[in-house]
Formats: sequence, C-alpha cells, structure tokens
Amino acid sequence: MSTRGNVLKALEENKGGTVSGEELASRLNISRAAVWKAIQELRKEGHRIDAITNKGYSLARDSDVLSVEGILPYVADPAMTDRVHVFKSVESTNLTAKRMALDGAPAGTVVIAEEQTKGRGRMGRSFYSPPAGGIYMSFILKPRFDAAKSVLITTAASVAVCKAIETITGISCRIKWVNDIYLGEKKICGILTEAVTDFESGHIEYIVLGIGINYSTDRSVFPKELSGIAGSLFESAPADGVTRNRLIAEVINQVLEVNEKLETREFVHEYKNRSFVLGKEIRVIPTAGLAR
Ligand code: BTN
Repeated sequence: MSTRGNVLKALEENKGGTVSGEELASRLNISRAAVWKAIQELRKEGHRIDAITNKGYSLARDSDVLSVEGILPYVADPAMTDRVHVFKSVESTNLTAKRMALDGAPAGTVVIAEEQTKGRGRMGRSFYSPPAGGIYMSFILKPRFDAAKSVLITTAASVAVCKAIETITGISCRIKWVNDIYLGEKKICGILTEAVTDFESGHIEYIVLGIGINYSTDRSVFPKELSGIAGSLFESAPADGVTRNRLIAEVINQVLEVNEKLETREFVHEYKNRSFVLGKEIRVIPTAGLAR
C-alpha cells in the first residue's frame, strides 16, 4: 500500500481520535516529512484532517470521502481486501465492472465511484449521478445457476440494500417492483443488473449488479424531470458515525451474504414484507413502440 494509503488507514482506525506524527512515522517506518506530505495529499482529496497542537492528526468523524481504507475495516469477509476498488469519477461503475470482469477480476469484486458521468438506468435511461452525495457501486457476481434465475439476484439485492440502510441508519425503506427502493414517496435507490456474456460460447460469465443510492444528494440539484420522483436518504446531516463508507461496507456484507444463499430463497419473505406493490391492484398501460 502507498504511504498515502497507510496514513489514511491509520487515521481511519482512529477516526475522531488523534495520532501523533511521530507515532505514524515510526509505525509506518517513514520520516515525519513523508507523513506531512501524505496528510497534505489527503487534505487535497477532501479528507478533513485537523492538526492538534501537542497531540497530532485527527480525521473528523464526519469526514466522508469514499476510500478503500474507509470501507474495508467494516467489511466482514477478509477475502475482500483486494476486491474493493474506489474511483473518483467513471462513466459508469457497471461499465468499469464489466471491463474488469472480462480482464479476469474475480467474483465478489466491487467497483465504487464518487461520480458517474454516464450513469446507466434501466431500459436505456440514464441515472443521474452527481458527485459528493451519492453512492454508485457495482458488484461482479458469478451465478452458480442458469441465467433465467439471475432475476433473483436483483430482488435479493433490493432486500440486502434495505437491510444495510436499516442496520446503519435505522431508516426503514420499501421496495417497488424489484429494482427500486423508496423512502416515503421518493425513490432513493435504483438497481440495474446486467450480464457479461462470453463472446465465443454465448454463456453468461458474470452478472454485474449496479446499485445507485441518493445518500445526501441535495434536492435542488436533481434535474427538473426527477424532482417529483427522486429523493435522498438524508435531507439533513446524518447521525454521528453514519457515513457513506460505513453504509457501502454494510451493503457489501449484506449483498455477499444474501448471494451466498440465494437458492434457499430465504430473502423472499423479507421482500414480501418490504414490497409496496405486492397485493395491490396495478394498471398496465401499453405504449406504442419500444418502452423508454
Ligand atoms: C434504475 O433506477 O433505472 C437503475 C439505476 C441503477 C444505477 C446504478 S449506479 C451504479 C451502477 N452504474 C450504473 O451506471 N448504473 C448502476
């Protein structure tokens, strides 16, 4: 790991507390000047690090720049150490994950970004993905069963995201259809599942599961056409200790767990409890041509 990464890891482990420059230097076997340089680099990235006289450096408890170092301490499976990748900006985490899968990335790999410039939604729509207040993440999963059952992954993921949100924030969300998560009347999360097919055999090699959560996206930045539909998990500051990194880690834990026992369909019970369309009368309105 780089000096920057090691310093951030040490600060994350003591989040809210202080670590002296001397201790960091000796623990990482580097000079005090190298520690200072790393701190400057991290501050430039947006991490809120205070220098406290006679005490050392302190990473603010609500500092929430997405980072591997901020996520990994809360991820349960140690095998995930090399499988979490965080980017500042990508076109689409689903696209990056697909490319990584084709390059041999293992199942379980997660791609996360602060911003997407071409976030993808279902049915060819775009998914608005501004920086700072969102969570955009994609998993590479390898189904152990035929592709027809892959729809289960989406339903199970919706349940996993609701459980993660509830565990970390205490907020209870509901599921519309199988892909959309709502808080009250507003959609706060969408899920897009795509297949990566082997060109020669035509078989499904991987499933890319993309999850987009409006975490604290400012209501005023949503494009006009979304303003009546889209909302955010937090309209005001989250509770102490609640961060995007922490929630991402819990989403990873829950998605991997439910995926392990997908075939038992245990999640279906939870899905039914959280669905707000099951048992309701629906009206199907046919549209001319292709739905968009
Ligand atoms: C929808 O509501 O139509 C589905 C939206 C899915 C958005 C997520 S954000 C992470 C991943 N990358 C993408 O480009 N899309 C999915």
